[in-house]
Amino acid sequence: MPNLTDLEKLARQAGEVLRAGYEGKHTIRYKGVIDLVTEVDSQSEALLLEAIGRDFPGHKILSEEIGVVVGRESDAWLIDPLDGTVNYAHGIPIFSVSIAYAHDGAVTLGVVYDPLRDELFSAERGRGAWRNGQPIHASTVEELQRSLLVTGFSYDIRTSPRDNLDNYAHFSRLSQGVRRLGSAALDLCYVGCGRFDGYWELSISPWDVAAGGLVASEAGARVTAVDGSPDYLTPPCTLLAAPPALHARMLAVLSEAG
Ligand code: IPD
Ligand code: CA
Ligand code: CA
Repeated sequence: MPNLTDLEKLARQAGEVLRAGYEGKHTIRYKGVIDLVTEVDSQSEALLLEAIGRDFPGHKILSEEIGVVVGRESDAWLIDPLDGTVNYAHGIPIFSVSIAYAHDGAVTLGVVYDPLRDELFSAERGRGAWRNGQPIHASTVEELQRSLLVTGFSYDIRTSPRDNLDNYAHFSRLSQGVRRLGSAALDLCYVGCGRFDGYWELSISPWDVAAGGLVASEAGARVTAVDGSPDYLTPPCTLLAAPPALHARMLAVLSEAG
């Protein structure tokens, strides 16, 4: 079974691939009209798949670009080799690598690494969450008007009836502001260390939120689907993360909007 040090090592190695490729010119391939992927997504993923396959043979891996590497369900990895690809392709310095390990169906270890800031967020179920080895805690903000929020929009925004724009408008009027940074994994870690008070997203994938969700919850945030149910990793996934009192207020706003 892997430990947190194993995940940290993997995240730093993949992060080095992202950092090294950042300044260069990218080969862009489109998975959809606005959903793009660079050659560096694939390089980072190849490194991770090779290392996990070598050191943890027989484990199942769910990774964004390749999909599923078949293996034991009881030892499963959820990986986003580059979270924030659109930022990355445009030279905006907000992106990360996200690695989670789930034992018997529950995520027990999570690491999100921002290679440009050299910030490594990590969490172990029941033991806490850390930023570069120092314990982190979610904010204590309870009121929406005292909160700074963050959200994201999925690549099907042009066609989906659940485009999140109504929630964006509501929360923009109720809070101090709503940011859209473009890396869901970092959004959750920023909730974990109190930079943001709350995060929500209506359409997200397990590899985006498995590691960051553990970081935020181990840091004291309540992390659920947007209807308040505890399982936020079974597709179709949604996410709401905030300290408990604020979570209740955000949940009420989201429920009202339907
Ligand atoms: C995306 C980012 C973004 C979120 C999208 C994700 P990608 O992941 O996490 O913040 O709003 O829903 O798909 O494509 O950059 O790995
Ligand atoms: Ca992602
Ligand atoms: Ca990605």
